Amino acid sequence: MQKIIAANFKTNHTRASTKTYLEALDKKIDQSDRIYVFPTSSALCKNNFQHLKIGVQNAYPVINGAFTGEIGLEALHEFDIQTILIGHSERRNILGESQKFCADKFNFFAKNGFEIIYCVGEDLSIRQKGFNALKKFIQTQFAGIPTNYDKLIIAYEPIWAIGTGLSATTEQIEQVHQSIKDISPAPLLYGGSVNAKNAEEILHAKAVDGVLVGNASLDADSFYHIIEQGRK
Ligand code: PGA
Repeated sequence: MQKIIAANFKTNHTRASTKTYLEALDKKIDQSDRIYVFPTSSALCKNNFQHLKIGVQNAYPVINGAFTGEIGLEALHEFDIQTILIGHSERRNILGESQKFCADKFNFFAKNGFEIIYCVGEDLSIRQKGFNALKKFIQTQFAGIPTNYDKLIIAYEPIWAIGTGLSATTEQIEQVHQSIKDISPAPLLYGGSVNAKNAEEILHAKAVDGVLVGNASLDADSFYHIIEQGRK
């Protein structure tokens, strides 16, 4: 299966720089690539590129209504957006999203036919408790999630590896990925300090179907280099 390569811009890039980036990237990829870009909400644009798909980093599980600062389904429809990131550790930990809220959001967007990249991952204190504790913790992050949803993609992102420059080792990734594969048949991405240098090894590790990239996706050349590693 073709590797899935996804870029999470987080709170980076302007509407103008996103446009330049997306147009250039779309020209370099083709039908056989599976590329997603999650720009900031203010840089969302019509999801009508030839090859890449635009997703939203976050939205509120509602069609519209009184939820100050949030975007609802109706607004996403205007851009033909059908892909959403749910459960990212920055939303769980910085924005305080509970497992119950992640599951409610998941079920709302699943009901509306969205493709969902659902993120799970442990912090350092859990990893230090050993593999059984880690496995148990990851299981709790699937509470309320229909793991056989056909438009589900899972991303395993250990928090200690996100934005730190310290990626998990191939061995660590394979171990956790095998146990997530027991939970769900969905394609499984790794995320956490993936870059142009380590992408090849990670992308070809066992049970790795792709990568979710933050920092190293911000530069179009570096992201394209990661895409090339997935084609090998
Ligand atoms: P990073 O972020 O590549 O900057 O570590 C990954 C993510 O949070 O999705």
